Amino acid sequence: MHNNQVYIEGLIVNDRTRKCWHRRWVKIVCIVLITFLILAIISFSLVVGLVILAPNKAETTTISIVAETLTTAALVPSTTITSITELITANATLDLQSIMSISTIMSTTLQSTTETSVMTSTESQTTDMQTSTVKITTTLKQSGKIQQRFQYFLLEWSYTARMNQGRQEHTTSILPDGRVLVIGGSNRATVLRSVELYDPSSEIWMVTRNMNSARQNHAASILNDGKVLVTGGQDGNPLNSVELYDPTTGAWTIVANMAYARSLHTSTLLANGKVLVTGGWDGSDVLNSTELYDPLTNTWTIRSTMNDARHSHTISTLSNGKMLVVGGKGIDALNTAEVYDPSSEIWTNTNRMNYARYFHTASLLADGKILVVAGWNGFQLFDSVELYDPTTGIWSNTGSLNIRRQYSTTSLLTNGKVLVTGGYTGYMLDSAELYDPSTGIWAYVDHMNEARIFHAACILNDGRVLITGGYGNVQSLNTVELFKL
Ligand SMILES: *[C@@H]1O[C@H](CO)[C@@H](O)[C@H](O)[C@H]1NC(C)=O
Ligand SMILES: *[C@@H]1O[C@H](CO)[C@@H](O)[C@H](O)[C@H]1NC(C)=O
Repeated sequence: MHNNQVYIEGLIVNDRTRKCWHRRWVKIVCIVLITFLILAIISFSLVVGLVILAPNKAETTTISIVAETLTTAALVPSTTITSITELITANATLDLQSIMSISTIMSTTLQSTTETSVMTSTESQTTDMQTSTVKITTTLKQSGKIQQRFQYFLLEWSYTARMNQGRQEHTTSILPDGRVLVIGGSNRATVLRSVELYDPSSEIWMVTRNMNSARQNHAASILNDGKVLVTGGQDGNPLNSVELYDPTTGAWTIVANMAYARSLHTSTLLANGKVLVTGGWDGSDVLNSTELYDPLTNTWTIRSTMNDARHSHTISTLSNGKMLVVGGKGIDALNTAEVYDPSSEIWTNTNRMNYARYFHTASLLADGKILVVAGWNGFQLFDSVELYDPTTGIWSNTGSLNIRRQYSTTSLLTNGKVLVTGGYTGYMLDSAELYDPSTGIWAYVDHMNEARIFHAACILNDGRVLITGGYGNVQSLNTVELFKL
């Protein structure tokens, strides 16, 4: 076949250049040769059983260009996608890995049919600093026609600029002007004094002044005047020192020490502008003590003790202004919960959770209930999630996570749903799940770009979730990801 084609082309070229067809014998020879060739080609085709089409001139039709801005839909498991139509109409946000595996499934199932062949190619692109998209091109070859479909998926997670320093067990605080203050932590080699500021509008990180002490597992609270109070934490040993950051000057000031060194404690701004710290670990004991900081007088006073000593617990401010302290670790993991009344300063035991746990998270939902997520008891990781109703004091189980986690973060989104990210389940997780309070169900959303534990999450003023640092599989991370609702 190949040789014949070359021969024909050569003959035509010879005819044109020498202009010899005015000679009758040449015409006859040509006609005979061409007839012979045509007959030979037809015979050959019949014998081999092929029908020769003209593949080089296939028509290309672009069926549709769909710009999708799909965000919160649950991830469609790749195995449910069995046809191109389903792929194209899959109204869900897919992560790159799922799309890759869909592409593979599509290629193998559909290319095995004789009439249709399909190729899907996937490209990840970042259109600007804030959105990262995946473009799927489906090339469908049917009856010699090539049809192409494009679809853009806006990914829920995208990288933003990296911090200057990899860090874990740090804190993040949203300043009154919307910037994010990232404080201390550890890079595994050293505990950090360094502090960075993130501007969500420019997506730029700026190093600001160092703290006076390096700290990890500290606590930070924004005061009513916009300054940030950083308490305790540890640099080898737990610290009783306290520092105040002034965002207008960028300066750190050492303020009065707490009575107790505390790490893995909590810190909460009260309605009266004072800051309550509870529990923690002082290097030898787990603490039941609480202390109150008055910014006006720069003094700490010891307040009434909790009923249980605890660290790695949670504290939540309820809609009625009281505080709920949940779980944590004393000698063992605790299932106890206590309510604190800031006006009477009395701690009252409320009902116990179904599971004792620490390194869990607690979120105040829009309906006033507290959602307690995951954690562990020292032996067992939990996928269990419990809801506390402050009006009845009753705990109830709600939908479980799809995977057990500790050291994950939890964020209440502006749409009332709750996002859990990363954590540890025997290995580091990059997965994220979304809780819908109206159904009580957790559904996977896109994976983060990286697995993380000991990371931090905060909600930016525009509703996006900023995930900073943490520990990956190898090192403390300086990478930062944004979750777009
Ligand atoms: C796909 O999702 C978008 C946004 O969530 C929604 O507006 C649209 O109606 C959905 N389309 C289908 C076919 O479900
Ligand atoms: C608090 O802890 C201290 C020291 O362990 C202990 O002596 C005290 O009894 C505890 N208080 C309460 C209310 O449990």
